[in-house]
Amino acid sequence: MSEVLAKHGAGPAAQLILELLPEPVILVRGGEGETPEIAYGNQAAREVFRIELAGAPLGAALRRPEVLEAIEGALATSAPAEVAFETIGVQPRFWRAFARPLGLDGDGARQLVVVLRDETDARRTERMRADFLANASHELRTPLASLAGFVETLRTHAKDDPGARDKFLGIMAQQATRMARLVDDLLSLSRIELNEHIAPSGKVDLARTVQDVSDAMRPLTEERGVSIATNVEPGATSVVGDRDQLVQVIQNLVDNAVKYTPRGGVVRILLQPAPSLEAARAPSRPGVGLSLLSPDSAEASAYVVLRVTDEGPGIARQHLPRLSERFYRVEGQRSGGTGLGLAIVKHVVNRHRGGFVVESAEGEGSTFSVYLPALPPPA
Ligand SMILES: Nc1ncnc2c1ncn2[C@@H]1O[C@H](COP(=O)(O)OP(=O)(O)OP(=O)(O)O)[C@@H](O)[C@H]1O
Ligand SMILES: [Mg+2]
Repeated sequence: MSEVLAKHGAGPAAQLILELLPEPVILVRGGEGETPEIAYGNQAAREVFRIELAGAPLGAALRRPEVLEAIEGALATSAPAEVAFETIGVQPRFWRAFARPLGLDGDGARQLVVVLRDETDARRTERMRADFLANASHELRTPLASLAGFVETLRTHAKDDPGARDKFLGIMAQQATRMARLVDDLLSLSRIELNEHIAPSGKVDLARTVQDVSDAMRPLTEERGVSIATNVEPGATSVVGDRDQLVQVIQNLVDNAVKYTPRGGVVRILLQPAPSLEAARAPSRPGVGLSLLSPDSAEASAYVVLRVTDEGPGIARQHLPRLSERFYRVEGQRSGGTGLGLAIVKHVVNRHRGGFVVESAEGEGSTFSVYLPALPPPA
């Protein structure tokens, strides 16, 4: 097809550049009253739209009537056009076609160049953003509606009933706390995302941090009648990280474990050294694990693995892949949480270039593991 480009005076370098562009580019020509045909399609265009040879009718490659109409219109009027369309297949894709008139060719036929831009990822991101906003608003609206309801009751029916008043004020305080937590978690998630591309460089003593978090959680564990047993294996102490963020990781995992462990039960925290990425990923129990995050590349030569194991009800397989999604809660479990805890864990660990694994089965408790790049030993 390159003769066509040569006719336009495109030298070998220009032809090569056009050929290698990642976006599909198609040169279309059409004489008066003729159906537009493809004069040239670069490699991406040939692959994506299965263009086999020059001279094929444009409709064979771009089958959508609205696209053909726009391009025929641009040919006829010599005015630029732009049209968005969707291709269906195993995976639907969203495209935007930009048609730009190019003047006449040697035979007096009109020509134009069509550049296609794949907007699938942008659409997906947009959809996720919209879903997130809808979810967040819904989560905030529920406690807010309940607060408004109780205010109304306190003003009217419960006005002169001290018993009811105390009870309602108690619920209102709970709802307000819940809203405040939700907003805090949302803010902290967005703060983590803001610098997620910059790996932390501090040194964090993980064993010490685990101890501090467990100490701070004592009121909760006492209230729940659950104990925490920590075991630090030799060599599993320091990692490269951001201490405040790692505190959030430990807090979220231990908080869940304590929440789901029945009275009298034990939450086990284990810190283990792992000499390689493979070792860090290795399951702690057979056949019930799922990786929720793994590092793009093994930048670190050694890791420290933090495992939090509970004696709770466990989680059915089908829920595992969605646990770290924002607002995802296993149905039937009224945890009273915001559903943001594990999303925060995942983003912090991602920033640390580490990994996140869940191992759980119904009736068998759960183990949540996080592995983080170990601090290299001093030279
Ligand atoms: N240790 C666990 N045992 C059983 N189910 C769990 C455990 N940890 C998490 N889950 C399930 O995963 C869901 C998401 O957990 P996540 O920590 O993200 O949210 P949450 O605990 O509901 O809210 P938050 O952590 O914001 O208070 C929980 O609602 C629960 O259904
Ligand atoms: Mg939680």
